[in-house]
Amino acid sequence: MSKSKATTQGVAPILPKHYNKAMMKRDEKGYLTYWNDQGKIRVFSGIQPTGEIHIGNYLGAISNWVTFLDDYECFFSIVDHHATTVAYEPGEMPARIFDAAVANIAAGLDPAKCTLFVQSEVPEHTELAWMFSTVTMFGDLGRMTQFKQKSREQEENVNVGLFTYPVLQAADILLYKASAVPVGEDQVQHIELAREIARNFNARYGEVFPECQAYVSEGKRILGLDGENKMSKSLGNTIGVLEPPESIWKKLAPAKTDERRKRKEDAGVPEDCNIYMSYHRHFSPPEDLEWARKGCTGAKIGCLECKKRLLENMEKVLGPIREKAENLRARPYEVNDVLSRGARKAKKIAAAVLAEAKAAMGLVRLKA
Ligand code: TYM
Repeated sequence: MSKSKATTQGVAPILPKHYNKAMMKRDEKGYLTYWNDQGKIRVFSGIQPTGEIHIGNYLGAISNWVTFLDDYECFFSIVDHHATTVAYEPGEMPARIFDAAVANIAAGLDPAKCTLFVQSEVPEHTELAWMFSTVTMFGDLGRMTQFKQKSREQEENVNVGLFTYPVLQAADILLYKASAVPVGEDQVQHIELAREIARNFNARYGEVFPECQAYVSEGKRILGLDGENKMSKSLGNTIGVLEPPESIWKKLAPAKTDERRKRKEDAGVPEDCNIYMSYHRHFSPPEDLEWARKGCTGAKIGCLECKKRLLENMEKVLGPIREKAENLRARPYEVNDVLSRGARKAKKIAAAVLAEAKAAMGLVRLKA
């Protein structure tokens, strides 16, 4: 027998000194919320490196993320582990990750104001995901809409990762004790499950994680060019954030509008027009929306004319993003540097929170 003064309490995690100044308390809505040592709430969100960042991602997520940069401590991740739950070409993944970084920075994620990093470069994400899988109910995962939908879409590849996808997503968020999660509508169910996982963990092991909340913007569900389904890479109904105007026009010109408008002389209803509701409303200033509305209801403008005005307004937003992306592309080492710094900063916090969670679960060595 060794003479160690072992106790059953285990060894306390070593946390950075400033850590203890931070606090967790309920917000005005009653959700357990975490404030960092500077009194800021943490924000986390992620995007899959799927090859093309589209305007659904931009309007539903990235443009909303940007509004958090000044007043919150923000973490944004290119979630490559999530992207491997669908079949992909490994040789293409590095470029997809790089492209996602370029598009996100160009679209407004100022690296001086947030931490941008690649998920798989911070392995604590997958470790916490395992720990969370033991407080996540099988039935809850089976109820996830996205899982059911993806299982239908890829019947031949219903892998376990697809099923436990929301557990990794919960780990992404809670590893930073992020309370605010800006996402599009399709992700709200996953954020609610992440909150449930935090509650289950806290109830069993003590109060470690905040009860994260989803924040959705006005562009929470942007429809694709088909006017029927959510804009999504897998449906081929997208407009890319970095797509040049000529190429956007080729898609926009034939896109469906209000069916009543067969000819210019037929009056229409803007609320029944996908071009107006999904795109004009988000890209055009009020005076152009008024012009489009009057022109449509009064049969004074044709749909092509209306789409041309939209294209001009889209270009005002997307043109500068494209230009910035081209500049970044010419300096790949700077993009890599942003991601390396991001991973280092993320890892510091991730390691501390993981240590705290492990200690709460008793996954520590006996004191010698
Ligand atoms: P992903 O990569 O599918 O999409 C990234 C973000 O874009 C939003 N979005 C949309 N918003 C409006 N209209 C659309 N048509 C549209 N398409 C996509 C998504 O809602 C999302 O906010 N599981 C996540 C990634 C993720 C994550 C996380 C998000 C992993 N870990 C932790 C938040 C927190 C996903 O697949 O997003």
